[in-house]
Amino acid sequence: MAFIRTEDRDGVRIITLDNPPVNSLSFALSGELLPIVEAATADAGVKAVVFTGANGIFSAGADINDFSIEPTPETRTIRDVIAAVERSDKIFVAAIEKNALGGGLELSLACDYRVADAKARVGLPEIKLGLLPGAGGTQRLPRLVGAQDALDMMLKGRNVKMDEAKEKGIVDEVVEGNVLDAVVKLAQSAPPKRRISARKVELGKGITPQAEPFVVSQAHKMVPPENNGGLAAHKLIDAVEAAFELPFAFGLAREARLFEELARSQPSFALRHVFFAERELAKIPGLPAAKPLEVKKAGVIGAGTMGTGIAITFAQAGIPVTVIDSNEEAVEKAKQTVFGMFMYQVQKGRMTQEDAWKLGQSIQFTHEYEELADADVVVEAVFENMDVKKDVFKKLDTIVKPEGILASNTSTLDIDEMASVTKRPDKFIGLHFFVPANIMPLLEIVRGKDTSPETIATAFKLGKTLKKTAVLSANAFGFIGNRMVFDYAKAAGELAEEGISPARIDAIAKKFGFPMGPFAMGDLSGIDVAWHIAKARPDIAKGRTNVIDRLVEMKRLGQKTMAGYFKYDKAVGKGREPIADPEIEALFAEEAKKAGITPREVSDREILDRLTFALINRGAYLLEEGVALRPGDIDIVYVYGYGFPPHHGGPMWYADEVGVKHVYDRVREFGWEPAPLLKEIAERGGTFADYKQGELVHA
Ligand code: 3HC
Repeated sequence: MAFIRTEDRDGVRIITLDNPPVNSLSFALSGELLPIVEAATADAGVKAVVFTGANGIFSAGADINDFSIEPTPETRTIRDVIAAVERSDKIFVAAIEKNALGGGLELSLACDYRVADAKARVGLPEIKLGLLPGAGGTQRLPRLVGAQDALDMMLKGRNVKMDEAKEKGIVDEVVEGNVLDAVVKLAQSAPPKRRISARKVELGKGITPQAEPFVVSQAHKMVPPENNGGLAAHKLIDAVEAAFELPFAFGLAREARLFEELARSQPSFALRHVFFAERELAKIPGLPAAKPLEVKKAGVIGAGTMGTGIAITFAQAGIPVTVIDSNEEAVEKAKQTVFGMFMYQVQKGRMTQEDAWKLGQSIQFTHEYEELADADVVVEAVFENMDVKKDVFKKLDTIVKPEGILASNTSTLDIDEMASVTKRPDKFIGLHFFVPANIMPLLEIVRGKDTSPETIATAFKLGKTLKKTAVLSANAFGFIGNRMVFDYAKAAGELAEEGISPARIDAIAKKFGFPMGPFAMGDLSGIDVAWHIAKARPDIAKGRTNVIDRLVEMKRLGQKTMAGYFKYDKAVGKGREPIADPEIEALFAEEAKKAGITPREVSDREILDRLTFALINRGAYLLEEGVALRPGDIDIVYVYGYGFPPHHGGPMWYADEVGVKHVYDRVREFGWEPAPLLKEIAERGGTFADYKQGELVHA
């Protein structure tokens, strides 16, 4: 047998799921498992049945690849297996190690008892894939923990630790030692049969059943709209409502129908793409295998916002870090930020005072570079200026031990030029964090021409330790994310020059699903930052007019000066809410007139197309130039670093959604130079999903 092993121990049949690496419950596995469950049921010698997982894990749920396969009448799914468990009179017990997620938890919820290892986690994360739990989870979990808690867990796709799981009754026993032994013992003790399906659904502790319509309608109000990232959430709530209103079997049928609708929905395809794209990131074609170095001590140069955020990130990952800055004022501010950050965690109950103290102590501030002699990695986060950075690296190269890695957090500058001032270009790399570094999940790893495979492998491992999603970029101005954002910002600026208000443009971006529009984003990152970049590389980042220069002259530098493209008022959204400013519309009109640009009517559709297609066209250039390895890498940069709506999968996935040919035609209509790769894919009627690295036919 390929996926299942069985063993009998004194009347207990142990069924082991064995589908490495995560025992996903594929169609093939289910086809094999179903007759085994039926045989155990029919076997008078079997008193009880135990499910356990090989590979140190119970199961990560259904095989996500299967959702794109059309089932045949012969196909068996985990749903069929669960139905067989439900029909059986035997006692079923689940032995949970590491993870029981999605269909894995659903299988264990069909059992009479669940016993788990103390370090295990259980959850129904289907919503993150644009799905709902489709193997009874929406019907059984509310019967077990109450509808309100079940909704909370399922709508957030939250995986819960064992203390919470035990308290809520999701698991019956938590053990420190051998889970299987404990489960077999329980199974042999002839415990009573307990089917969750036989229970009534309750709302939750202290809530009367009459409140059900209210709870359901509130839940619908709290999730995003159906047509903008909330499709799965609304259907999930509908399924839980069915658990109240319908007998169990009918509720299951409703759940199955809603699940199938979602499995075929555009947002779910996009989110499944994001899931797999994320898992591809560290697979670097052509990179010789290399052993990553262990990072036990880190250094950060610069105690500004970025440096402080990076230092907190290291400390939180358990890596002691020394921050170098000679500016006393900056250090004082950084210390306050660190203190405030950890105190906040204590107040929120996420950390004990003692742990906060220890973490705080693991960040040391000094102005002595010598303190970094034994650092395994040092990240430079000083002012974005090549000469300043080169000076820092010259100094670091003489002090840091020869095997130590030197990294720059630059967001645009040339990694090779910086590496050239050191004697260790093989140990030089870009580590581009995003503000605030301790919160934002993205890390761009920038590979220089001499960066060694070992340094790249270390950077990826470090990214994982720091709980960041790391994407590899080649060394090119702005790397992946910022290089694309320049075109996006330019497209937004050009629309404003044609007479569209920044408020309308931002509203359209938000309606599409971005958390903020391009102008609010510009205000957040700073107009002065954009000005510096435009000065450094006018060929890439300068717009058609002088609006940015004028804003800098007016000292409207963005949110930090309470005015930029928008106005800000401390009384409105704590000073972070953009307020439309007619003065800025007039400024755009004035500068546009000087540049000979005539205002015109532009539809909402065109506004959205110009914003998103600017990203796609540049993304195609980056693929072709080898700056980004895969369309999926670009998508992850945009979803995790720039708020591109995940239910559209990222810009390159979105290109496939609307049609690459359509994007290409529109790019030409807008008068932009289409990337040769965009042209090539459009002309052969292909997709970015089918793109293979190195496939480009150069024009
Ligand atoms: N289906 C198919 N492949 C899966 C999978 C799944 N459910 N879960 C993980 N994998 C694959 C990954 O793609 C990866 O493949 P690769 O080695 O070829 O790149 C490999 O397993 C290892 O995964 P990770 O790199 O993510 O390993 P980690 O140890 O970091 O994380 C995990 C393990 C926490 C289990 C994580 O993989 C995870 O969260 N998986 C998805 C869980 C999930 O969403 N389950 C619900 C599935 S839908 C469902 O069950 C529907 C049901 O209701 C009917």
